Amino acid sequence: MSLRVYDVRCEYLQNPLGIGPVRPRLGWKLEAGQGERHVLQAAYQIQVAKESPDFNRLIWDSGKIESDRSVHVEYGGEPLEERTRYYVRVRVWDRRSAASDWSGTAFWESGIFREDRWQASWITCDAKSQGWDEDAAYLLRRGFRLEGEIVRARAYATSLGTYRLEINGRKVGDGLLTPGWTSYNKRLQVQTYDVTAQVSEGDNTIGLVLAKGWHHSALGWENNNGYYGSPRAALVQLHVTYKDGRETVISTDESWQATTGPVIKSEIYDGETYDARLEIANWGTPEAWNEEGCKAEISAGAETGSHAAAKVAPGGASWIQASIVQHPKSMLVCQENEPPKVMHELKPVDFIVTPAGETVIDFGQNMVGTVRFKVRGASRGDVAELRHFEVLDREGNVYTGNLRKAKQTATYICRGAAEETYQPEFTFMGFRYVHVVRYPGEINLDDFTGCVIYSGMEETGTFSCSDELVTKLQRNIVWGQRGNFLDVPTDCPQRDERLGWTGDAQVFIRTAAFNMGVAPFFTKWLRDLKADQLPGGGVPAVIPNIFPEGAEMHSSSAWGDAAVICPWTLYLCYGDARILEEQFDSMKAWIDYIRSQGEQETLWNTGFHFGDWLHLNADSRATPTDLIATAYFAHSTDLFARSAALIGQSEIAGEYRDLHSRIVEAFRQEFVTPSGRLCAHTQTAHVLALAFGLVEGEAKTRVARTLAAMIEDNGTALTTGFVGTPYLCRVLTENGYNELAYRLVLRKEYPSWLYSVGKGATTIWEHWDSIKEDGTFWSEEMNSFNHYAYGSVGEWLYRVVAGIDTSEAEPGYKGIVIRPRPGGGITSAEAAYTSMYGMIRSSWSIEGGRMRMDVTIPPNTTATIVLPAADPDNVEESNNAAAEAEGILFAEKVAEGLQLHTGSGRYRFEFAV
Ligand code: BGC
Repeated sequence: MSLRVYDVRCEYLQNPLGIGPVRPRLGWKLEAGQGERHVLQAAYQIQVAKESPDFNRLIWDSGKIESDRSVHVEYGGEPLEERTRYYVRVRVWDRRSAASDWSGTAFWESGIFREDRWQASWITCDAKSQGWDEDAAYLLRRGFRLEGEIVRARAYATSLGTYRLEINGRKVGDGLLTPGWTSYNKRLQVQTYDVTAQVSEGDNTIGLVLAKGWHHSALGWENNNGYYGSPRAALVQLHVTYKDGRETVISTDESWQATTGPVIKSEIYDGETYDARLEIANWGTPEAWNEEGCKAEISAGAETGSHAAAKVAPGGASWIQASIVQHPKSMLVCQENEPPKVMHELKPVDFIVTPAGETVIDFGQNMVGTVRFKVRGASRGDVAELRHFEVLDREGNVYTGNLRKAKQTATYICRGAAEETYQPEFTFMGFRYVHVVRYPGEINLDDFTGCVIYSGMEETGTFSCSDELVTKLQRNIVWGQRGNFLDVPTDCPQRDERLGWTGDAQVFIRTAAFNMGVAPFFTKWLRDLKADQLPGGGVPAVIPNIFPEGAEMHSSSAWGDAAVICPWTLYLCYGDARILEEQFDSMKAWIDYIRSQGEQETLWNTGFHFGDWLHLNADSRATPTDLIATAYFAHSTDLFARSAALIGQSEIAGEYRDLHSRIVEAFRQEFVTPSGRLCAHTQTAHVLALAFGLVEGEAKTRVARTLAAMIEDNGTALTTGFVGTPYLCRVLTENGYNELAYRLVLRKEYPSWLYSVGKGATTIWEHWDSIKEDGTFWSEEMNSFNHYAYGSVGEWLYRVVAGIDTSEAEPGYKGIVIRPRPGGGITSAEAAYTSMYGMIRSSWSIEGGRMRMDVTIPPNTTATIVLPAADPDNVEESNNAAAEAEGILFAEKVAEGLQLHTGSGRYRFEFAV
């Protein structure tokens, strides 16, 4: 038997811990035998066992199900119990009825679902009464004894603020900035940790460092502070199970002690200050807890939070009794996405003394995270201070203007040891360079490491081609994604903003889904979008929302449309129909909001809009906002109607299909003359009309021709901003102007994608000319060097240059399209994308008028491969006539060349072009 089942997953994740309560979906990949083609699954069987991987006692057996489905298969057993581990295995049959072996055993574990299962109380410390700085991180801890042989221990933790959990002095898990950023008052994630190996029989201590995080830091450029209202607090419940079946639960309550420690300041935008002299040795270990009877005194009835309760612990710190805070638990949800963690480490590439005499370390890459560094031989009280920044100015000096109020500074006050290491923990910075403002002793580059932090997503895509600069552009796009997918899709990661701008997320999501596995990441964010949606269906401009009630910052076209475009894109890229069901009401509310806005139902000509943000037209209103708004209205309504049909809401689908036709009609009446002239002579207006199917027939041809002419007249240069850019190249390619699309992408002069690459960019800039030709900058107010929006051209690189796509009829790459459209003199390209079915690869090269293509299609999928062959009758596959090759189901000549319908396998084509 040649089929093998591997990588069994649950809700996109490998062996997730603490999920639920919704019945999870399972998926797996298939590996076929060497050289086998057209391998399909004919049937599957799933078995699930509870608590022990003993598949003799099953709680669910799907039986043999005749189906080729291998993703999103819903677990069909009894409803999930809480805090329970479910083991799962899968086997499949191929079309010849041969069964595979059982897959390896995978599992998922459920979390806590019900509010009344929380024995723990929210705890905080009354820092004010102690005179503790409110910028400092608090330490919380308690000791406990475990008697008996431990077989399992799980910690469930969350906080209002950002926490690090420790058991017996050791950090639990590798997540950072937990519990992440959600719309805290409505949804707060709980992390589940397997701490079986960290507790032991006898004395133990559990501790938590609790910093401000997003919950308490100033957010937004207006320094919105305390948006969420509630005090900093933690909630932890540790369940320890013994071999004899007993269970002990340790919870946050008033038996915990609190103090402050070495983190004397931590803030999302400003960075962190760490005074190592204030470290409390072993504060989270049983020894410290037991010493001097800390516990005895506190439990002897001292008043909560008062000075009377303060107790000087061994490290010289005053421990007070933690106080209980009344705060709801109804908004607690299980962890949904992959928490941020250190994903890569970079070493410095250069040490610079600037003309102004500043000492600078260059990491060679604009990145997001922190720097881990060492100081050696410092005296107690010596200070190291690192200011993080993105670019040097024209003279080569430190430039921090574009950070606006964000300080992005790490300050370390030495304890005076031979060697000390520090890495900020409750903040992140966007930087390529570090200005070493103060540092005790000689700087040795080996002592500095850049730690790149983002949500722990897998990288699923790679792209490269014969043009080095384009390959570099792709790398910059990926770095832009790494820098801005830190729990929330942000506009930028460095200045006093770093917000989940809906428009930016919407334009980039398709590219993002090529580069990384983003389904859990966006699923979480979309739930926040839904939670923060305004009563009338409007959508805040940033998610999680941070703007006060009544603020104007909501419901701009192209921004609010994230409510529809993002779930649709997840459906398309992952075949995930559940996301459409989950977001259905939110999508509908958004469309209904728009419907109620215009002076007539089908034209959206009122309200505030960002328009074609940062476009290059001389007139700031060149593309009228009502044109953009109505175009997006049509597009979102179309996607919504299709979504409704897909999830069986046929009546609603019909209603919105009809609405869509009426919007398109209204658009034409208002903005297009009968002979196809668009009222707005801008690239963006033409791009939207084409991208959203608002013109057809002759009019469409004319709009495309006009767009091409406008670009040519402008010296083959774009003028598009955030709204027009994402679709620009695609509509050119699809409307007969592929070469022009290539010329735009290959253009090196301003304005273009490669302009920034030529200027040494290592990420995507906010403006086409964030650094101008003469080396000066765009204004300080808004000049991010790490802003992924224009990176949305990435999808064109994958879909057109390498030619990898999914068919809408069989989304999630069940039906694959391989259709490279070479151009621009590029002689080779290669992309690989790891879909939920396995790796898809498309690579081609052209030499001496012949094109060679090497394509891999994973098992249990089929593909439509379009070969741009000059002579479709003379296409070879591994030296045989293509149409006859094994795995090729049928072939037909098309305008572009030869179209093949194939099964899985690796194919090598050669033909004249
Ligand atoms: C952000 C953008 C965002 C825009 C709204 C800016 O401050 O950085 O990326 O979409 O505001 O137009």
